[in-house]
Amino acid sequence: MSGHGEPTPMTAHAAGPLTGVAEVPGDKSVSHRALIFGAMAVGETRIEGLLEGQDVLDTGRAMAALGAEVVRHGPGAWSVHGVGVGGFSEPEDVIDCGNSGTGVRLLMGAVATHDMAVTFTGDASLRSRPMARVTDPLALFGTRAVGRAGGRLPLTMVGAADPVPVDYATPVPSAQVKSAVLLAGLNAPGQTVVTEAEPTRDHTERMLRGFGAEVRVEPAGQGRRIVLTGRPELRPQTIAVPRDPSSAAFPVCAALIVPGSDVLVPGIGLNPTRAGLYQTLRDMGADLAYENAREEGGEPVADLRARFSPDMRGIEVPAERAASMIDEYPVLSVVAAHAAGETHMPGTAELRVKESDRIDAMAAGLRACGVEVADGSDWWTVTGRGPGGVPGGATVAARLDHRIAMSFLVLGMAARARVTVDDAGPIATSFPIFADLMGGLGATLEAVA
Ligand code: S3P
Repeated sequence: MSGHGEPTPMTAHAAGPLTGVAEVPGDKSVSHRALIFGAMAVGETRIEGLLEGQDVLDTGRAMAALGAEVVRHGPGAWSVHGVGVGGFSEPEDVIDCGNSGTGVRLLMGAVATHDMAVTFTGDASLRSRPMARVTDPLALFGTRAVGRAGGRLPLTMVGAADPVPVDYATPVPSAQVKSAVLLAGLNAPGQTVVTEAEPTRDHTERMLRGFGAEVRVEPAGQGRRIVLTGRPELRPQTIAVPRDPSSAAFPVCAALIVPGSDVLVPGIGLNPTRAGLYQTLRDMGADLAYENAREEGGEPVADLRARFSPDMRGIEVPAERAASMIDEYPVLSVVAAHAAGETHMPGTAELRVKESDRIDAMAAGLRACGVEVADGSDWWTVTGRGPGGVPGGATVAARLDHRIAMSFLVLGMAARARVTVDDAGPIATSFPIFADLMGGLGATLEAVA
């Protein structure tokens, strides 16, 4: 839903080591897709381990507004009675996607090839984000979209009554754009083709295949070409959602920088299109080990063990790794602040159009906490102060961005003086149990009255 009421400041300060098992919630990307594809199959899809964060709940509500039956049976246990490809009905009211770029962009794709009008909106963060990257390719199917300046929300999409298939090369590395085009292609005749210059997360392709669609993926230069045959009959599935590697990043990175820590994060998704952070941390000298690697529900998973790592060094993070760790740069910059030397992060222009301008938000907060940061339009560099060397002692702005809020709380767990975020409310969009989980490991997080 748009907005989340009064700001709720929260503070973190250094305490004892973090130890124990961190059971992080289900993967946000997989959860959105499980609800959407479930709604486009004929019959009942069962989902276990669904992330019950606000972003995903908003997508569930949207599916119900489009005609699917979405039922919660218990914690993380949901079912979706789908209406079949092409079966959505026109919603009676505006669809409010709250804070979720993934939610709104995937939904625009899903409705684009239905003969109906749908109006989308969201919170102040989402209303400031670019949507032309999705409405432009959707126009090729015959869709019309009318939004505010720059294609921003609120926006009304008039779906194509007689869609044609599309062959589209994504101009930015974005799984949301790729997925929106593939979702629209589901209800177009013939073959819809998406080419991406660098591989982005492939949950859509994997899940579409699981639901019985014909999806061919071919290498294309450094990237991939995805060919989807339209108008399949999607068969309902039972989906076990892996734990979210992007959420796991917070307890893992906290363990690396808080002296004496030893944390196990069981069952996290390690799809190679998502695992860039963990490779980067190892390259920096982090004590990280994968245990018990296995496959669950079409996605690779493993248990990840992280121990305090006092000897981490700054590195040059390869630009071509950016897509596989795009959501993890904020918390990586916190680790970089505790490492020795510079960490340079090129190829990160997309960070400027996330829930906030994440380079700017992190640079401002890190500087306020005594860490040197340099930045340009598509790069940033953090000069590490070594273990125990970050002064902290500031109140920083979360800018309606869950990952900025959590990153600065992690910073506060290892800084010399406490760090306060002005609003921890957005954390509920992706990791509603963050404060309890970190507290259970030994962190000291306090709501500020
Ligand atoms: C997501 C794709 C990424 C990521 C977001 C989730 C997805 O966005 O930042 O949190 O589930 O497809 P982009 O596609 O804009 O890179």
